[in-house]
Formats: sequence, C-alpha cells, structure tokens
Amino acid sequence: MGLSGWLGGRELSKALFIKTWGCQMNVYDSARMADVLAPVGYRPVDRAEDADMVILNTCHIREKAAEKVFSELGRLRALKRRKAMAGGRLIIAVAGCVGQAEGAEIMARAPYVDMVFGPQTFHRLPEMVAAADAAPGQGVLDTEFPAESKFDFLPEEQGTQGISAFLAIQEGCDRFCTYCVVPYTRGAEFSRPAADVLAEARRLLKGGAVEITLLGQNVNAWKGEAPGGGDWGLGRLLREVAQLDGLGRLRYTTSHPSDMDDDLIAAHAEIPALMPFVHLPVQSGSDRILAAMNRRHTADDYRRVVEKLRASRPDIGLSSDFIVGFPGETEADFADTLRLIEETGYAQAYSFKYSPRPGTPAAGLDDAQIPDAVKTERLAALQALVNTQQLAFNRAMVGRTMAVLFDRPGRRPGQLLGRSPYMQAVHAEAGPERLGTLAEVRIGGAHANSLSGRLVEAANRDAGPPLEASA
Ligand code: 5AD
Ligand code: SF4
Repeated sequence: MGLSGWLGGRELSKALFIKTWGCQMNVYDSARMADVLAPVGYRPVDRAEDADMVILNTCHIREKAAEKVFSELGRLRALKRRKAMAGGRLIIAVAGCVGQAEGAEIMARAPYVDMVFGPQTFHRLPEMVAAADAAPGQGVLDTEFPAESKFDFLPEEQGTQGISAFLAIQEGCDRFCTYCVVPYTRGAEFSRPAADVLAEARRLLKGGAVEITLLGQNVNAWKGEAPGGGDWGLGRLLREVAQLDGLGRLRYTTSHPSDMDDDLIAAHAEIPALMPFVHLPVQSGSDRILAAMNRRHTADDYRRVVEKLRASRPDIGLSSDFIVGFPGETEADFADTLRLIEETGYAQAYSFKYSPRPGTPAAGLDDAQIPDAVKTERLAALQALVNTQQLAFNRAMVGRTMAVLFDRPGRRPGQLLGRSPYMQAVHAEAGPERLGTLAEVRIGGAHANSLSGRLVEAANRDAGPPLEASA
C-alpha cells in the first residue's frame, strides 16, 4: 500500500475488475463504468483475484447467457468467501442485459451478489456502491429505465480506450424484431446530441485514438438536431466526425437495412477516413421469414441497398448476421438464405441458431419451433458457404497494398498485429514505434482468419494505389 493509499483510515485506491460479454456496446459500457467509478477510487485491474469489486457485464441476446453468468457467480462466491476469511471484502455486481432481464431472479438465486443493474442505470454506480457499503448483504437492485439519460450524468470519457475506440451515439431499439430482446433490455431508441458526440470524439482522439467506431443497436437510425435547425442523419454526423484532427479511420455499427438512407450511402463515396466495410445484418433471405421476424424489408430491398452501396464505393466489403432455424423456417426458406449469401458475397458473417428469448413474440410460436438437429445442420451448411467466401475475400488481398492500423504486439517478437480496412487481422514485421500508426502493408499471405504482409516504405512502393487513403 503506497503512502497515498490510506487517508483517515479509509482505503483510497480500490481495484476493479470488469468481465465483459457480448457486443461492442457492452465493451463501451464497461469502459464507461470504469470512468464512473474512477472518481470514487476504483482503478481497473486484470484479474478478479486482485479486485475489491467485480462487475460482470452480461449479454442476453442468445442462449445460455444466464447460465454462464450463474456459473461465473459460483466462482466469485468462493473468491468472496476466501477474501472474507482473510479479512477483506469483495463486491460482486451483475450489469448488462442479463441484469436488466433477470435482476430479481439473480438476487433470489445468488444472495451474495451485492448489486444488480441494467444498461441504463450504471451512471448511478457511486450511489449503488455507497448503498452496498452502508448495508452489506442487503443487495442493491436498480433496473429501471430512468427518465434521465445516463449520458447526461456520466463523467467525461477518460480517453483510456487506446488506439481503436468505441463511441456510443445511439442506444436502444424500436424495431421489435420478433426474436430479439434488445428493445426490452436496452429500452427505447435514443440518439445522443451531435454536439456531445463530437465532444467525446475529440476527447478520444486527444487520448490517443486513431480509429473511432460509432456504436448503436440501430446506429443508422441515429438522428440529431442540426446546430442551425433541421435534422442531421448518420451520414452528416460521419462527415462532421471525419473533420476532426487526428482521426485516421471511422466506422459505424450495427445498421438496419431499412435505415440505410441515400445520404449515408453517399458518405461512403465522399469520406476517405470512412472504412469501406459495412456490417449490414439481413438475418434471412426468405421474404416469408423476414416478415415473420418483423424485419419490415424483403430480400430484394436488401439486395438494392447492397447494390447502391457498391455503386457508391465499389471496393466495399460486407458483413452480416444470419439466424437459422427461426420458427417455421422450411428447407425452401433456408435455400433462399443460401442463395442471398451466394449472390451477395461476404467478406465475413456471423451466424446463429435461433434461440427463443423469454418474452419475445417468436418464443411463443410453440408449434413452429425447429428441432435443434435441423438448426445444427443448417448452421453448418451456412457457415461452410460463408467460410468459403471469407477465404476467397482474404485471398483476393494477396499482392495488394493496404493501410493497416497496428494496434497490438504480434505473436512473435518484432511483429505487430493490426487491422485492414476490412477488419482483417494483419501480421507484419514492424518495430514497436509503429504501434498506433497507420502503415502501408503489401499483403503476401492469406488464411481463413488473418493476413500477413510486409511494410511498404513510401520510397519503394511497388503496387498500384492503396485501398485506403491513410491519414
Ligand atoms: N436467436 C439467435 N440469434 C439472435 N440474434 C438476436 N436475437 C437472436 C435470437 N433470439 C442475433 C441476430 C443479431 C445478432 C446480434 O444476434 O443475428 O443481428
Ligand atoms: Fe434487435 Fe436489431 Fe431488430 Fe432492434 S433491429 S430488434 S436490435 S435485431
């Protein structure tokens, strides 16, 4: 314990460990929880064993989420006991969408949990910690959807996210796809004002970020009041963020096909820093299933959006999410999905077996649920197709020169690992001074999940124009 560690018998510096599951929004939320707890003396550590407080930031989107949380809680209970026997204390908190959806059950089943809260109340963490401190063993539950926005109460982003940073601009969802828990766990759609987004982006860049990814459950539904009146959409916001000093790369995720407006599509042609890569989930290629999912677009609507994106930015790479085995999905429906994948050609894609989520409309379609064996078979077929496309996409990079943002040390000494414009992992021999910089790399090798290449110094650049204008 350092000299400043104790003041009036109170420990000033306490250790915080946050374990994060799920989407990038949860990663962002975890960083913000650390920001909220910094002024009350908590600093992040890498292991639960070293912590005075452990927060499990959970995900409820697919199966077994709650079970995973309970098994993790079992381990933490043992740790809490060991700490108590040694005269110490461990605060255990459950945050995120499982906390939101199952708060009362967690409190009942795991009474050793000190705090449960959801995605919309973590700005109140200092009060919750004070309440937990005041009455140990009581349990603090805060899963309401407050009238205030947490963004108005969070302390300023501390700029600690590093080279590639997330920035939440939109949260919640009003679309109510029939399989999805997000509208229930994250609440109604909310867009942060443009001025707040720009201020946070400036702080991230000052803190060392080179790449910013704008986040939202339905990010392209973002809308904001323009300073001079009227409305801004995401396309306009991207243009504004792209003006900021120090920005090398800009991304946004996750988009709904129906909110992909012409201005946003045009932004892809106009903004050099905007990466030519869009995650655009379609879920299914069957109009019947899309309707049952309440996606409110057809497979052809999606094809048209893809066509427009490609017309705007011919080198664009696409990614998607797919659900197989949605209730009532026939072999013909599934064949439509495979056909859409074949026609579209993806750089990568995520795919999942449909999982009934408690409280969602599709979970109640009892007669139409698909047997697990069928889901397994369809998932394997879909993934085989996507993997072929991903490998072909990666192989097409060989011989090209592209900008890579080096964001971490590589596996071997003398190597760095970075990301291509398309989010591919790229290994190259490079000194540590390149960390946090964009460098031109000539791709020499392609694998299923990564690329390798050599730095191209400006003097002996040998390929055609790079894929991306570097900052
Ligand atoms: N079952 C399976 N996959 C789901 N997703 C969302 N809800 C479910 C569910 N109930 C998938 C969708 C979404 C991604 C984040 O998770 O594909 O785009
Ligand atoms: Fe869930 Fe996305 Fe549908 Fe919203 S648009 S309900 S977040 S799948």
